[in-house]
Amino acid sequence: MKENLIVTGGLGFIGSNLIKLLLKKNFSVINIDNVSYSSNFYNLKDLPKKNYKFIKCDINNKKKLINIFKISKPLAIFNLAAETHVDRSIDTPKSFIESNIVGVFNLLEAFRKHCKKFKKTKLIHISTDEVFGDIIKGRSNEDYPYRPSSPYAASKASSDHLVSSYVRTFNIPAIVTNCSNNYGPQQHPEKLIPKLIYNILNNIPLPIYGDGKNSREWIFVEDHCDALFQVFKKGKIGEFYNIGSNKNYNNFEIAKKLINISSQHIKLGNDVKIKYVKDRPGHDKRYALNSDKINKKLLWKSSTDINNGLKKTFLWYLNNEKYFKSIKKFHIIKRLGNI
Ligand SMILES: NC(=O)c1ccc[n+]([C@@H]2O[C@H](COP(=O)([O-])OP(=O)(O)OC[C@H]3O[C@@H](n4cnc5c(N)ncnc54)[C@H](O)[C@@H]3O)[C@@H](O)[C@H]2O)c1
Repeated sequence: MKENLIVTGGLGFIGSNLIKLLLKKNFSVINIDNVSYSSNFYNLKDLPKKNYKFIKCDINNKKKLINIFKISKPLAIFNLAAETHVDRSIDTPKSFIESNIVGVFNLLEAFRKHCKKFKKTKLIHISTDEVFGDIIKGRSNEDYPYRPSSPYAASKASSDHLVSSYVRTFNIPAIVTNCSNNYGPQQHPEKLIPKLIYNILNNIPLPIYGDGKNSREWIFVEDHCDALFQVFKKGKIGEFYNIGSNKNYNNFEIAKKLINISSQHIKLGNDVKIKYVKDRPGHDKRYALNSDKINKKLLWKSSTDINNGLKKTFLWYLNNEKYFKSIKKFHIIKRLGNI
């Protein structure tokens, strides 16, 4: 019998990529997702029925979670269920509080109960570099103070604090990971890179916030998932691990790279050019992680070069036309976070 792992938020971008990796690693996976607007069954459409089970469930449903944990006795629970779009958190912060803070509280309560009897299960809580706020110079390590700028980042920071407080107070076996900006196949086109690809494919100008100089540490999603697997295998309970590529690019550079890569595969329309638009309020200038800890202690390093990763990403969207069709158009083109 294969061992069970649980992934919450498995119909989303990173969760669906992680499920594919865990199945390849010979585990049986249970995907818990509340099927929100950012979920997509297309992301897991080709999975074999064997060793994979989907359960529609909100992480706020403590009773149902306790039952799923009890029946499946997982080796680990990877928590990726969250509201994730910064712009959306500016327009409608409430859902971020409900899923990212109250949801994690309920998940922790369910997990705490489960742990009393089943001591082997680990909780791996997936978080973001955005909790550190603007890093104008240098790179933030795991000891850096949390200074979140957006309601999204603040809700994730709260959830990280909740998890570490439960480790300290209730002795639950949990680990927190903070990763930098992911890109790759299956990401909702409300986010920068798939939005730029959608516009390139549809001959629409490429909207870039402010002066285009906001810098992010971009990591290919498969590298992130690989790091999460190493954390599950070798990570130390109660620890935080940064996960990054150590490579920063600003939004202008990303748009230029995508125009260049796509021009090698399709004929670009006349409107495919950068268009600067009003910035989002509170937009952090730069995030950058110091990932020495995971590099040295877990012997993990990100391996995908940005040009290869962007090429793979572009080709996936080009070859999966139906993906964009499965998403309501206003979720792709509507500008959010523009107060
Ligand atoms: N995308 C990134 O660049 C990035 C970087 C670092 C960390 N993260 C973190 O990784 C996790 C996954 O991010 P993503 O980009 O895959 O997000 P996503 O928006 O693509 O997917 C989130 C999934 O969670 C589900 N979900 C939301 N609220 C839920 C709830 N209350 N109960 C059950 N399911 C719920 C959604 O339906 C969706 O399928 C998040 O916690 C995010 O903060 C993301």
